[in-house]
Amino acid sequence: MNNNGIRVLLIEDNPGDARLIREMLTDAKSVPFILEWRGRLSEGLQKLTQDGADVVLLDLELPDSQGLDTYANLHSQFSGVPIVVLSGLPDESLAVKAVSDGAQDYLVKGQIDGKLLARSIRYAIERKKSEDELRDANTKLRNLYINLQSAREEERTNIAREIHDELGQIMTAIKMDIAWLKVKYCDNKEISEKASSTLNLIDATIKSIKKICTELRPDILEHLGLGAAIQWQAEEFQNRTGIMCEVTVQEGTVVGSDRSIALFRIFQEALTNVLRHANATQVIANLKAGNGKVILEISDNGKGITEEEISKPDSFGLLGMQERVYPWKGSVNISGSTDRGTRIEVVLPVEETRSL
Ligand SMILES: Nc1ncnc2c1ncn2[C@@H]1O[C@H](COP(=O)(O)OP(=O)(O)OP(=O)(O)O)[C@@H](O)[C@H]1O
Ligand SMILES: [Mg+2]
Repeated sequence: MNNNGIRVLLIEDNPGDARLIREMLTDAKSVPFILEWRGRLSEGLQKLTQDGADVVLLDLELPDSQGLDTYANLHSQFSGVPIVVLSGLPDESLAVKAVSDGAQDYLVKGQIDGKLLARSIRYAIERKKSEDELRDANTKLRNLYINLQSAREEERTNIAREIHDELGQIMTAIKMDIAWLKVKYCDNKEISEKASSTLNLIDATIKSIKKICTELRPDILEHLGLGAAIQWQAEEFQNRTGIMCEVTVQEGTVVGSDRSIALFRIFQEALTNVLRHANATQVIANLKAGNGKVILEISDNGKGITEEEISKPDSFGLLGMQERVYPWKGSVNISGSTDRGTRIEVVLPVEETRSL
């Protein structure tokens, strides 16, 4: 909208209809409208490229384009401009389809007057503005989440490295000193025994350091890849919980480092959920790749997740799974059936292929 009024581009091949609409908008007293008229879609597109518009009134049946394709074509090239479809057809299902594809309104030519048209145009502009703001806010939140996750991963890697290098080295040095004392005072039973028990404590501490580091960021993921990391995690889960966890990894494919960490964290969350909620005795996971995608399936034989639980707004674990694959346009499908378990399928497009 400029100071003189709302700029409306009418794309309509029937001069009679165009004249009628011009009259309607001239009669509408609420706000001034500046109307431009084009008779073909190609001319309308050209006008939009040159000068833009605040709103487009679009007839779907034009000499160079027909039906919803007319809308789709315009919308794909000028997604920022609100479009009100003006049709000769009172076709309810076409109207619903147009609106669900993003049209702001669907008006039937014989059923409108100036007031209605003016109101529809003004609402279309306002609604489009709110939609765009909402989409922007959504994109920002998503980016923030992605950023937070990668900062978190980076932090975990750094902490794991620091603990491993700093504490690991100190513990090794202490171990050597105590071993030296043990040899030096081998004829003193009391000191020798104390040194032995201290050595055992040091070994336990070194083990515990390794465990903490692995939990923060499994080395195996970097060194042996996603398949090995998932197999290791499954084994660890089985030993810790007693829930059988069987993993099949298809030979010979994919997965770069960022995607690997995303899939690995999803797998960890799925296992945590099995332990906390499923009441299952068995988990079966399958990692395969092909046709430019990696697919990770995780199924359990527990009580089965419900539709309600899947769509709860505070199911942050499940939401996190979706967000983890969002940067690559991946998808997470979750389904469950009562007492027949829960199944999670993650599909992640990949570009490069490397060994799992
Ligand atoms: N494998 C499963 N079997 C049965 N129910 C499940 C399973 N996984 C998830 N659920 C249900 O779905 C809900 C949402 O899971 P989600 O992981 O999002 O949240 P949470 O595990 O409760 O909490 P957190 O945010 O710590 O992950 C769970 O509370 C549980 O009721
Ligand atoms: Mg959870």
